[in-house]
Amino acid sequence: MPVRALWFSDGRLHLIDQRALPQRTRVLRLSRVEEVADAIRGMAVRGAPSIGVAAAYGMVLASRQPHRRPGPSAKLLGATRPTAFDLFVGIEAVRSAWASGRDALEAANAYRDRIVGECHRIGEAGAPLFRRRPKVLTHCNAGALATVEWGTALAPLRVARERGAPIFVWVDETRPLLQGSRLTAWELREEGIPHAVIADNAAGHFMRAGEVDAVIVGADRIARNGDFANKIGTYEKAVVAHENGIPFYVAAPWSTFDAHRATGRQIPVEERAPDEVLEVQGRPLAPRGSAARNPAFDVTPHEYVDAFVTPGGVVRPSGLARALRRAVP
Ligand code: MRU
Repeated sequence: MPVRALWFSDGRLHLIDQRALPQRTRVLRLSRVEEVADAIRGMAVRGAPSIGVAAAYGMVLASRQPHRRPGPSAKLLGATRPTAFDLFVGIEAVRSAWASGRDALEAANAYRDRIVGECHRIGEAGAPLFRRRPKVLTHCNAGALATVEWGTALAPLRVARERGAPIFVWVDETRPLLQGSRLTAWELREEGIPHAVIADNAAGHFMRAGEVDAVIVGADRIARNGDFANKIGTYEKAVVAHENGIPFYVAAPWSTFDAHRATGRQIPVEERAPDEVLEVQGRPLAPRGSAARNPAFDVTPHEYVDAFVTPGGVVRPSGLARALRRAVP
């Protein structure tokens, strides 16, 4: 069983502080919505589905704070990470309950159960894709830490392995914040799944050498036409996979699909502080005074996606609009 990234007990939101991994497993206990907003902005909790569930519980905490109201609390949380669409879905799931006098905690629990259930179904739906393609490359962390439990990109790999496929995972380190080497490798190691961490710029080398059978990533927001935002560097992997005839899959729960954006051009891309590029864990990597740019995500056109692995099954980009009409109101 994979780890659980967060849970609500004793009136507080408990989060594994993902900034401390893999060196330490530190749990944060949060009792105010302001603390939850800081944890999301500061990436103690990250990964679009986990962000959405954390924000849902942030709304629960807000509903218990004197003088807090649903609208401004939603605004506070919604200002933390602009690209992750799940953030807004999670907030709204509890805002609407709170504003209409329903139980906020019940709404947050139901939202969490929905996300965990959808990720489990993604695992079941995607596993057959890897039976004969067991050497799989992934970017960033789209595992249990990013989704509360199971994962999106990692869920099909877990299920395929349980069913006997000899899964081997190529883990892009994922600069600047190293979600691949710190978090994905940690999850895979905890479960004894064979893997190797590679520098981000080594992925093309292994693809061309025939050592990668397939690529699977998660997403932070998917537009109606299938263009999707994911961790910076994803676009390059998709292009190189395409060039080498390697199938490229995107796994996501319905909460990541933004039916209001027609194409990827309308997806807002979060730009984070330059220090994240200029330093690694406080140690300078560049001369003092150098400038840096730090887009947290890039947008990959749907032409590079072979299929989306959704809770409703494996969907080709051409069938996405129909699948969305059925699944996302
Ligand atoms: O900046 P992060 O670490 O929140 O970015 C996370 C990703 O890009 C993940 O791939 C994405 O959220 C999918 S997680 C299931």
